[in-house]
Amino acid sequence: MKKHILIVDDDTSMVKAIARYLSMQGYDITACEEYDKANKVLQEKPIDLALIDLKLNSHNGLELIRKIKQLELHTKSIIMTGHASIDTAIQAIKEGAFHYLTKPFELIDLFNLTQRALDYSKVEAENQLLKTQLETQRSLYKLIGSSEAMQEVSSLIKRVASTDSTVLILGESGTGKELVAQAIHNESKRTNGPMISVNCAAIPNELLESEMFGHTKGAFTGAQSNRRGRFEMASGGTIFLDEIGDMPPQLQVKLLRVLQEKRIEPLGSGRSIEIDVRILAATNKDLEESVKLGTFREDLYYRLNVIPIQIPALRDRPEDIPQLMDYFFEHFRNEYGNSKPELTPDAKQAFFEYSWPGNVRELENCIERLMILYPGQPIDSSHLPFHHNLDNSKVNLPKVHIPEEGISLKNIVDNFENELILRALERTSGNKNKAASLLKLNRTTLVEKIKKRRLQASSRFFE
Ligand SMILES: Nc1ncnc2c1ncn2[C@@H]1O[C@H](COP(=O)(O)OP(=O)(O)OP(=O)(O)O)[C@@H](O)[C@H]1O
Ligand SMILES: [Mg+2]
Repeated sequence: MKKHILIVDDDTSMVKAIARYLSMQGYDITACEEYDKANKVLQEKPIDLALIDLKLNSHNGLELIRKIKQLELHTKSIIMTGHASIDTAIQAIKEGAFHYLTKPFELIDLFNLTQRALDYSKVEAENQLLKTQLETQRSLYKLIGSSEAMQEVSSLIKRVASTDSTVLILGESGTGKELVAQAIHNESKRTNGPMISVNCAAIPNELLESEMFGHTKGAFTGAQSNRRGRFEMASGGTIFLDEIGDMPPQLQVKLLRVLQEKRIEPLGSGRSIEIDVRILAATNKDLEESVKLGTFREDLYYRLNVIPIQIPALRDRPEDIPQLMDYFFEHFRNEYGNSKPELTPDAKQAFFEYSWPGNVRELENCIERLMILYPGQPIDSSHLPFHHNLDNSKVNLPKVHIPEEGISLKNIVDNFENELILRALERTSGNKNKAASLLKLNRTTLVEKIKKRRLQASSRFFE
């Protein structure tokens, strides 16, 4: 697109000469001989550059410079001035002008300065863009959730961020482990260094070691050149060992040594390199269990588990759901430019009742889908992708025969309730929090029922 230049000078022949010359160079030109007209043009058209004569009949060119600043226009300005008023020209630069030219000047000098001003404004615009991109990226790392559990997570993040200690981030799939890792890195003193991730579950076992520690040319078949490992790339920053529970045993030994010695040895190199990285690790596996089963080294577990951060499942903090919904609706409204669907009370309730096995990621996907499929439209629970998994209250009644002599409704209902409670406890290996949420009871109610009815859940587990 052609750049638009405004020329403001009360010397008609001067204006004409400049206008002719610059339009030959491919610029769009508007010329004014009066202050008021120039002022109007500036406010009505996007002007990239203004060439302003300092002395304009009854006005001072400085007033236009101030106007540009006051209106926060992107217009750059160059002052044209006689020798006598250099001081004012300098004043103009202080007030925001790009530069000045002393009259008389060569047109080629004007052209060069014009180009410089326009280049500068391009760089400024690019900078602005990068800055906003960076800000949105940073805000993507914002952890949403004001439940007590998430507040605790946030406060832990703040406390550990400033240290260099190893953090083990635990939580079911989609709970935000990577987000927490990113937040720790961002809040740490290593924030200007890189954060490099290694997904131990996604990289084939035979490649993982060279991915982590690098290799030299010829270290193994297919190693055609030297390659830096991710530990080395993360130098001065943070390395995030994601899905650490899936790391093969022979690598666990090597990682342990790296953690102890703070040195890595690229495959085939025979030399060791000192590394300066902070280590964060995450897994959705129960590592303690893996240690018991012998699939995860106990010594490595203790090395990593210096500070554990446990992110609770979404079903255990339903109070975060509305806030997360608002956040994702807003996020995808910006991304797609669609308006938000309208949720009926029934649909809102469904968001609370659903158990969210895929946690925040599932909620995020669900909102994205609603935003695309039903922008600005009313939504009830039947529109929700998970509605098939919702209505489980209409279970078949057990076949009960009512005998002649009658039957105690209370006993039957109590027995039925007991059976459901025991099943829920079995499903959750005795975890009362989880069992309560399966039954949509609060924990205290469940505990009371268990106590009152002397339910012997444990005896059934080990049958
Ligand atoms: N508290 C939160 N606030 C905002 N967004 C969140 C929150 N928790 C998770 N998310 C979003 O949910 C998605 C999943 O998060 P993330 O990838 O960090 O989870 P994860 O625990 O690493 O999952 P997985 O175990 O599957 O790798 C991401 O898009 C993330 O931005
Ligand atoms: Mg992850």
